[in-house]
Formats: sequence, structure tokens, C-alpha cells
Amino acid sequence: MIYSRIIGTGGYLPDQVITNADLERMVDTTDQWILERTGIRERRRAAPEQTTCDLAEAAGRRALEAAGLKGRQIDLLIVATTTPDHIFPSTATKLQERLGGAGYPSFDIQAVCTGFIYALDIADRYIRTGGANTALVVGAETFTRIIDWTDRGTCILFGDGAGAVVLEASDTPGILHSRLRADGRYRKLLWVPAGVSEDQREAKDQRPFVEMRGHEVFKWAVNNLSKIVDEALAECDLTRADLDWLVPHQANTRILAATARKLGLPMSKVVMTVERHGNTSAASVPLALDEAVRDGRIRSGDMVLLEAFGGGFTWGASLVRF
Ligand code: ACO
Repeated sequence: MIYSRIIGTGGYLPDQVITNADLERMVDTTDQWILERTGIRERRRAAPEQTTCDLAEAAGRRALEAAGLKGRQIDLLIVATTTPDHIFPSTATKLQERLGGAGYPSFDIQAVCTGFIYALDIADRYIRTGGANTALVVGAETFTRIIDWTDRGTCILFGDGAGAVVLEASDTPGILHSRLRADGRYRKLLWVPAGVSEDQREAKDQRPFVEMRGHEVFKWAVNNLSKIVDEALAECDLTRADLDWLVPHQANTRILAATARKLGLPMSKVVMTVERHGNTSAASVPLALDEAVRDGRIRSGDMVLLEAFGGGFTWGASLVRF
């Protein structure tokens, strides 16, 4: 049997910090409101000249370095992003050229905040079926570029960043199981109404910014995340007690706490970066994972559950043995 294992992780955050005090000067909000409702104290914003590919490159290089590999040694590259550098070509092909090597499949995946879990599952399947030996999977976003900085309901939540993992074929299991879900009936609860094809036909007045019905998204996330975690565990004949770490999508401390409570997991087993990163969409899970690997919390042999939800709605979970 061929399996895939994570052999390196990397992360990158742009330098500019936007604090809640900065946001108090921009919209009608307070540090206290943001902290109580979201748990976020600060988030990062990419410099005007930085693109999603720049962030992806920095995280990807760190993951490759941790894996002891050069860019030309990978043979699959997937970038999960909602904020690609261009409509086309993909951010992945741009990143491929920068990392060196050519010819191997490179493409973007769009599943908003669940994008990294989708990309990880695809890369795992490539490796398990012999289609690739070594894959670089990146979640990267310049999400602040699609935020309306006059909308207090959304601008407090999001930030920019990138995270990455290197997967390698192995005869011992690393990624045990991934479960992906989507339900398009909810797509207008969290979306950017502007686009390419639909925008050409009608809606000339649509603005390319995130719109969200926060309360509905919140309820839906709490109700569905614990379910998918239980499904993934059941598929592997594991129980919640087998988990060493939960690395969730970093959307909101209250969502993380409610999910952990439903799962009966103590918060000491939950990796949290939302306070300092905000919601970095597809970058949030690999960034949190990288932090916990580098600071020594996640160790070889640990059972780690990654989960995320996002626009679409999309949601998913991956069980990974480190
Ligand atoms: N500062 C002060 N007041 C605010 C702010 C703000 N930044 N934003 C909203 N309010 C006000 C509202 O106007 C409302 O006022 P009203 O009662 O006078 O009408 C009041 O606060 C309560 O608003 P709610 O939206 O009900 O507040 P809620 O407790 O639901 O918190 C929040 C809002 C933080 C957005 C929450 O709903 C949430 O986190 N939802 C999940 C969002 C999420 O995770 N999205 C990302 C998904 S991942 C992806 O794919 C991108």
C-alpha cells in the first residue's frame, strides 16, 4: 500500500499588523466588541506590492526547507486560494516557475476557507494512486483585498497569510482519511457577489467584496463541524479520545470553543492562532499547523485532526498521523 505523509510544514505572515485599535479608527467598533465576539486582537495585511503568490512562495520555501527538499524535487503543486494573483493562469503555475522545476501538474483549488483541506485530499489521492511521489500543498490568501473596509461586520475578521505542507509517498500511513462536503444552497450566506461570467451579464453595480450573514454562518458552522469530525473518526475506527490535537479553521474563538465543547475536547488540545492571525481563509489551517509543529506541540506519532468550513458552503476534515 502507498500512503502519503506530511514531511515538512511552513508558514508566512506579512509584516503589517492591523490591531483592533486601528480598526476603531476606521469603522464604528471597539476592541472590546471584537475580542468578545471573535477573540481576534490583530491580523496581518500584505504590503501593496505583495501578492498571494509572494506569500505562497515564502510559506512553500519554508515547508520545502523543513522537508529537506528543493523545489525541483516536487512533482505536484496545489495552491488553495480565493484570491489568486490573476483570473488566469493559476497562482500555482506562477509559483512553480519560481520554485524551479517544470512539467509537473500545478493548479489552484477554490473552496474558500476549506481550500487547504480540499487540496490536501487531492494531493493525498494523487500520491496513493501513484500519480505523484512528492507534493507541495499551499493555502495562501490576500483576503484583505476583497474586504470592504467600511463594513464593520466583515473587516474585523480577516487577514492575509500563507501556510504549506510537503507530502511524500510512504509505506506507513500519514493521512488516514479526509472527508469533504459542500452544499451550494447556502452559497449566498457568505460570498463575493461580483465575478467574471455572471458579472458580464448583469450586476454591473456589484462590488468585489465579501458579504456575509455572520450569525447564520456561525450557527451552521457550530452544528456541522463536530458532525464531520465524528464521521472522519468513525471511518478510521477511532474515537475522540484518540486525538492528540485539533487544528481547526481559525474563524472565531467562539466557534472553536463551541466545536471543541461538542467534541468533548479540552481547549488545551486545540491549536489556536485566531487571536493573532484573524481568519486567513485557506491559509488558516496550514499556518496553525506549522506553528504547532515548529513550537514542538505536535510531535512525531501524534494524531491530528484538521477541519475547516467556508463559503459555498464547503467543509471538510482530515485525520493525520504525524
Ligand atoms: N463592532 C460593533 N458592533 C458590531 C460589529 C462590530 N465590528 N459588527 C456587527 N456589530 C453589531 C451589529 O450591527 C448588531 O447590532 P444590532 O443588534 O444593533 O443590529 C450587533 O453587533 C450584533 O450583530 P450580530 O451579527 O448578530 O453579531 P454576532 O454575535 O453574530 O457576531 C460575527 C458577529 C462576529 C461576525 C459572528 O456572527 C461570526 O463570527 N460569524 C461567523 C463568521 C465566520 O466565521 N465567517 C467566516 C467563514 S469562513 C470563509 O469561508 C470566509
